[in-house]
Amino acid sequence: MATAEQLKSLIRSHFGNEPERFYTIALQVAAHEAKKGNSALAHDLRNLVDMERKKAGPRVLNFPKDLRGLVLTEEPRTSKQVLVMNPDLQLRIDQIIHEYRQQEKLKSHGLSHRRKILLIGPPGTGKTMTAKVLAHELRIPLHTVQVDRLVTKFMGETSAKLRQIFDFMKEEHGVYFFDEFDAIGGDRASDNDVGEMRRVLNAFLQFIEQDISDSIVIAATNNPQLLDKALFRRFDDVLYYKNPTDKEKQQLIENVLGSFKAARFGWKTVLYKSSDLSHAELALACNDAIKNAILADKKKISASDLCAMIANRNNAHKGMNG
Ligand SMILES: Nc1ncnc2c1ncn2[C@@H]1O[C@H](COP(=O)(O)OP(=O)(O)OP(=O)(O)O)[C@@H](O)[C@H]1O
Ligand SMILES: [Mg+2]
Repeated sequence: MATAEQLKSLIRSHFGNEPERFYTIALQVAAHEAKKGNSALAHDLRNLVDMERKKAGPRVLNFPKDLRGLVLTEEPRTSKQVLVMNPDLQLRIDQIIHEYRQQEKLKSHGLSHRRKILLIGPPGTGKTMTAKVLAHELRIPLHTVQVDRLVTKFMGETSAKLRQIFDFMKEEHGVYFFDEFDAIGGDRASDNDVGEMRRVLNAFLQFIEQDISDSIVIAATNNPQLLDKALFRRFDDVLYYKNPTDKEKQQLIENVLGSFKAARFGWKTVLYKSSDLSHAELALACNDAIKNAILADKKKISASDLCAMIANRNNAHKGMNG
């Protein structure tokens, strides 16, 4: 059974006409049941929530008009299983999900779930994917804030726009993803812009510190060295992403190739040839191999088929760096 706190919250959110909150708590009850070993009930509860939400249709968000184009909203369907990560990252992501689902319990002890997260790592290692996975697993919308555009297009009013976004966060529960965060998190601006960028950064620091919404705020960057040191302690957690290890590459290839992977597969060469590739590049090489197989009416992909596609990616890679 749900805890007393959960029942009270369910009733409050129903009468307060807060459907998103109602769904969230229903999912917390499901998580609670799963933890107690009642996985069939947990499964039924999750299905019920998913079904009702589908029936309700896409919600019309009362997004301020002038934020449209700067904030993209979607309901991703990326499940946690497809995200290949090292065990440490996995634990941290599980912890974010767990604390979110148990937020009422934490609140009743005056604590807040971890919800301000900084993602650092090279391109194509799963930062954007993590934001999608979190939104999907928590069944809340993903709002991606295009920080780069925010800064270049609205120079002079960036802080005001940021305030609007943080205000919106209080009303609309979701994952708020600030991509290319170093555009405000550091000063890569030209000399003229330094004063403005300082102001924007200070505004962001202030907003994120004052923010007590239940939404999850994620910032991602490839350039941590550009970030202001004052930023790091504003986040509840900092997650570091790296290019895949051999084990992760193996998992990614198995996931993407699926039944296309030949039974006898020369892992050693594949792992060696793909040593410089990110998760994203390797996934693309796998998809290229699948397309070729389909077009050639082949049912299986061998290690050398995949290596040929990896070689293409390696060349693209070198072309870019050289
Ligand atoms: N860790 C991963 N596990 C599985 N697939 C991955 C992973 N990382 C990347 N991919 C694949 O690569 C695609 C692009 O990855 P993603 O957009 O998450 O990279 P990113 O870290 O956000 O890169 P960038 O810094 O360029 O924004 C994903 O849609 C997915 O197909
Ligand atoms: Mg990204």
